[in-house]
Formats: sequence, C-alpha cells, structure tokens
Amino acid sequence: MYQRDQDKQKSLLAKAAIQYLEKGMVLGLGTGSTIDIFISELSKFEDLFSSLKIVATSKVSAQKARDNRMNVVEPDKYLELDICIDGADEVDRNLSMIKGGGGALLWEKIVAYRASKRIYLADESKQVTQLGAFALPVEIIDYGHEWSAAAIEPLFKSVRLRKEATGNTFKTDSNNVIYDCLIKDEEDTANLGSNLSVVPGVVTSGLFDQFIDILLTCRDGDVQEISRKENVFW
Ligand code: 5RP
Repeated sequence: MYQRDQDKQKSLLAKAAIQYLEKGMVLGLGTGSTIDIFISELSKFEDLFSSLKIVATSKVSAQKARDNRMNVVEPDKYLELDICIDGADEVDRNLSMIKGGGGALLWEKIVAYRASKRIYLADESKQVTQLGAFALPVEIIDYGHEWSAAAIEPLFKSVRLRKEATGNTFKTDSNNVIYDCLIKDEEDTANLGSNLSVVPGVVTSGLFDQFIDILLTCRDGDVQEISRKENVFW
C-alpha cells in the first residue's frame, strides 16, 4: 500500500471516529499515527473537545492532546470511560488484533478495558487473514527481563529486545521493556496469551482479543464500520 493512500485512509478513519463522540463524554485516547491525525481532526471542533475529559494511553498522546488545549485527566477510581478510540497494527477475520507497535500496549489495554465502547481504526494495510506478520510486542518488567525473555523464547520463532534508533533499550511509559516476538506459523494465539501470562515478569502482550466493539476500516477507499465477525470482508 502506498504511503499516500495509507495516510488518506488514516485521515478518513479519524474523521469518521469523531462522529461517535458526544459532548460531555469521557474519552480513552489511543496512541499512534492514526490517533495523531484523530487529535488534529478533533481539535477543529472546540465545542466538542472542550466538553470532553480525556484519559490518554501514553505520555505522547497526553502531550499532543494538551498541546491542542484538550482536558487530559488521570485514571481515577470513580472515572468511567464512555468510549475508547485507538489504532491497530493487525486485525484478523475474528476481529482479534495485534497492537503495541508504538509501545503503548499496556496503557492501551488498561484504558480500553475500562471503556463502555471501544472503537479501533485500521487502514487496509492492517487487515490480515492470520495474525503474525507484525511481530507481537510483549511487555516485560525491567528486572530480570533477560530471564523472562528466555522463558518465552520457546513460544516464538524469535524474540528481539526493542531498541531506540539511538541503540538504547526502548522503555515504555511504565518503565518496562518490550520484546518483539515473531509468532510461529500455526500458533493458536489464544494459547499463546495464556502461556505468556504464566511467565513471571511478563506484564502483557499486544494480543487484543475481544476488544473491538466497532472497527472502522476501509474498502475501496471508503470507510466501513464492522461490529460483527460476520461482516468482515477480507
Ligand atoms: C501503539 C499502537 C498503535 O495503535 C498501533 O501501533 C497503530 O499505530 P499507527 O496508527 O501508527 O499505525 O498500538 O502502541
């Protein structure tokens, strides 16, 4: 897919997502380039955004929202989220996803879990028949991470510690590390999730199963809304 077409689709999806917002809502705000476009689209509707409370899924998204004069609040015991809007790295025909390309998987999962309605924006390049061309991010606490990584290694084709362009180890907003893991060809991702969860030090993975309430994606350049597996067209 050409970058230009992908950017156009991200913009269409971001505009479409704004239609789901209502004044006074509490919004869980995702992370990534699609969400960056969503933030700038939302910033055009002052009446709407000024009435929202926003819980961000990363420090980067929180800063971008604040730069656009949006009201960013912290998670709070009594705060209910009406809606969460986020991007995706891969979506399969069962509406399971891989997320975490931007390293925000843990906060993205925590925020989405609290939200009454979860909307994901995925341009055509994210539609897959089987998850796994995109390496699965696995977030691991810093302490002893090489031992935790050794324990998960047999579950994958390969595991690789995520680094910054500078060569430094990438750290998440929770000060954890990420291993990008290539899924084995015939892997059952449901088993993979539970196998990972028993390894001490593993915090979470970028497998998002049963999170999608509404998927906004594109077909022939138009936005499609999918809320049931039966309507998946790829
Ligand atoms: C960040 C994420 C993003 O939602 C995902 O990587 C999609 O990003 P983009 O919109 O840039 O394609 O999970 O942790």
